[in-house]
Amino acid sequence: MAHTIAILGASGDLTSRKLIPAIFQLFQKGRLPPDTRVVGLARTEFSDEEWRHSLEESTRKYLGDAFSAEQWSSFAPCLHYTTLDITASDDFVRLADFLNSLEGETGATRVFYLSTAPSLYAQAIQHLGVAGLANENEHPRRIVIEKPFGTDRHSAERLNAVAHGVFDEDQIYRIDHYLGKESVQNLLVLRFANSIFEPLWNRNYIDHVQITVAEEVAVGRRGGYYDTAGVLRDMFQNHLLQLMMITAMEAPVRYEAKFVRDEKVKVLQAVRPVAPGTFAQSSQRGRYEGYLDEPGVPSDSRTATFAALKLHIDNWRWKEVPFYLRSGKAMSCRTTQIVIQFRRPPHVLFNNRTKQTMDANQLVIQIQPAEGIQLHFQTKIPDAGMQLRTTDLDFRFADQFSKSIPDAYQRLLLDAMTGDASLFARSDEVELAWGVIDPFIHAWQAGDAPPLESYPLGMWGPSGCTEWMAADGRQWFDVCPVLH
Ligand code: BG6
Repeated sequence: MAHTIAILGASGDLTSRKLIPAIFQLFQKGRLPPDTRVVGLARTEFSDEEWRHSLEESTRKYLGDAFSAEQWSSFAPCLHYTTLDITASDDFVRLADFLNSLEGETGATRVFYLSTAPSLYAQAIQHLGVAGLANENEHPRRIVIEKPFGTDRHSAERLNAVAHGVFDEDQIYRIDHYLGKESVQNLLVLRFANSIFEPLWNRNYIDHVQITVAEEVAVGRRGGYYDTAGVLRDMFQNHLLQLMMITAMEAPVRYEAKFVRDEKVKVLQAVRPVAPGTFAQSSQRGRYEGYLDEPGVPSDSRTATFAALKLHIDNWRWKEVPFYLRSGKAMSCRTTQIVIQFRRPPHVLFNNRTKQTMDANQLVIQIQPAEGIQLHFQTKIPDAGMQLRTTDLDFRFADQFSKSIPDAYQRLLLDAMTGDASLFARSDEVELAWGVIDPFIHAWQAGDAPPLESYPLGMWGPSGCTEWMAADGRQWFDVCPVLH
């Protein structure tokens, strides 16, 4: 069956940096369905040839050695371009004619990809509807919506209402690129395709869970956007909560979109609301030194570039097991890791002269940069009586599989084309996720907030955050990628 991917906002950075390189790599691997066309849509005037040429340059730059000029010349004819002003409904009628003539009588599955400024999403959806572009005949019609999906629960509900006025829920694919990462999917496999972890994966054996998404980069040129979003909207409502859902969810009945998403939603439904007046104790925030000098950031900004939240999931599996989530810019290194901290053994049998308590087991699931898992456990130091030491068992994807790990967008684009929504967020999921994050944003604004501590570049966030964890008798796993 033929496919058309129509990218609205095609002159933007996401198209050249992520979407086209991903589609080209699918083509290189022979995974792009035959008869796929990619149509670029934006206000800038381009001929097909000009668009192809500019994408060739950017794809070469982003793919480096993986780029092949020969394969590009076979791929490039599937790229087309036509102008479109999202605010002009007539342009969508013209778009319908353009797509009909491009696809001919056979028609095609169409995927409309919203890669525009988020403020234009609602209008783009409405105009697609008015031009009849959402109507499914014998061919499916789908829409992919990039993050951010709203800026709070209320705006997400409004956007969902607009989208549901035009498309059915099963035509709507809300992207969170973290779900397309191989190692995030592998977490599902680790949990549900092995029987040795699941019996331990609960409050009886686990003391707490840490989810860290540390970024080495600062805000850079994105200051204008970032200052209105802040770390909670930019990273927590989507990526960190997705990682928490996958870590905490029950096994779905089957690996199908509905069942996977039902289980994820139940996790969010079980998140304990933070009591008014206690947000300052349940969270930490910080701002890296020099943030106020970034271009686009107002000098009186109060935006946090780092946050840590303590959440509880009130269900049988997780009652009283805190989930500590933290993320920040300009930190020590780029690493995304989930640390499952097991309980200490109940009784110390081997008297370690240096320690009264034994270190507990930890399972470190490293999502990026290198993908893998590391298990920490106790061993006897040879020839030293009964002295113990923590050692580790490593698994690196790269050691076991020679294939390079694909960028998340390859998997997500292919799933959207073939109609598998398992790795996309459902309407109730995004609304509930905002429902977890909004109260922190509001409480911080209303003064129920921890101090906005500044932290030097290249650290693990503000020092207060270390003390906050210590006050709970716990320690952050402040380790740069354990696997390389
Ligand atoms: C984006 C955020 O969604 O995710 C960025 O807007 C952030 O601020 C990025 O840098 C992180 O993604 P990744 O895949 O590099 O971890």
